[in-house]
Amino acid sequence: MAIEIIAAGRAVPPRRVTNNDLAEKLDTSDEWIRSHTGIGARHIVDDGIAVSDLALEAAWNTLTLAVEERLVPETTAEDLAKTLDIIVLGTSSPDYHVCPATACIVQDKLGASRAGALDIGAGCSGFIYGLETAAGLLELHDRRKRALVLGAETLSRFVDWNDRSLCILFGDGAGAVLIEKTCAPRAGPGKRGLLRTILGSDGSGAEYLIVRKGGSRNPYRTGDPVEKAPCIEMNGRAVYNFAVKKVVEIIEQFLSEENITMEDIARIVPHQANARIIQAAAKRLGIPEEKFFINIEEYANTSSASIPIALHELNRNGGLRRGDLILIVGFGAGLTYGGSLIVW
Ligand code: COA
Repeated sequence: MAIEIIAAGRAVPPRRVTNNDLAEKLDTSDEWIRSHTGIGARHIVDDGIAVSDLALEAAWNTLTLAVEERLVPETTAEDLAKTLDIIVLGTSSPDYHVCPATACIVQDKLGASRAGALDIGAGCSGFIYGLETAAGLLELHDRRKRALVLGAETLSRFVDWNDRSLCILFGDGAGAVLIEKTCAPRAGPGKRGLLRTILGSDGSGAEYLIVRKGGSRNPYRTGDPVEKAPCIEMNGRAVYNFAVKKVVEIIEQFLSEENITMEDIARIVPHQANARIIQAAAKRLGIPEEKFFINIEEYANTSSASIPIALHELNRNGGLRRGDLILIVGFGAGLTYGGSLIVW
């Protein structure tokens, strides 16, 4: 039995904000942002758009691709949605602060009438955590066959647009994959799908990437003065060091424990936080930077959406072939980290 990725889709808001657009309002420049992060632009949602709207668009995109490319027997995306058993959505910017889960809103609008739905809060590692959670839920029960795994964010709502060291980093977007439990082998010749996942957390770094206001530690109370909206605070240097270390460790762990070499891996699809993090990891591992797929220049850091958006793009551009061994790897608030080894 294997858990295979059937299709990958995405949604990106049409409004594109370039570094030069930001430099009109902030003391920054295209040169600084590109040289320190590799980012050239980001896409930002308009007022009135919530994360479930982006997630829903990515979901329909994924289901439609699966139908159009005849990867499933269903003939409409609506019929395919009705077959979903689980919807898992990784996000740090849900529609609502406490409840309901954004995944439930997506489930309803998709007409996924028999699906269970839940959100995953694992920062930018949300998609990797979500993929493993959905795979585990499918494996737990004979009758569960299909799941939709999403990463969706509107972090533009939670950054201080006057904080030049932070606001330049993030963009909005959503990505999704349709996964299915099949009878292909998970090991040995002809193995398919999700082979193994590593998940980890180092909560001692919780303060390094944090939104302090609004949770049970610092709740809003009746009568509180209206103040600055809750915003992300970050220790950029600490996160950077953590990220490089973990990307290297996860890749080395897969190589040694799965008895594979770098030549066996067709492509590494990392979380797109900063091109310099990826370059530093490649250097430490002694591998060419081109082994990593990087599209941060156009989208900036879309947090839990960055890996599924990258998978969609790589696949659409012909960069993935069925049977390729790929590795996804990520890190984020928590601090969390993780990676999955997948036969595409
Ligand atoms: N434009 C121009 N100058 C800027 C700037 C901007 N957008 N942002 C910061 N600076 C300035 C700082 O004020 C500082 O100036 P100073 O030396 O006069 O004090 C200088 O640039 C260096 O700042 P520093 O914070 O040391 O830069 P850095 O090289 O560490 O890069 C980050 C900052 C945020 C790009 C980098 O630390 C990073 O990417 N960290 C990881 C963040 C991340 O990935 N978070 C999400 C994880 S999921």
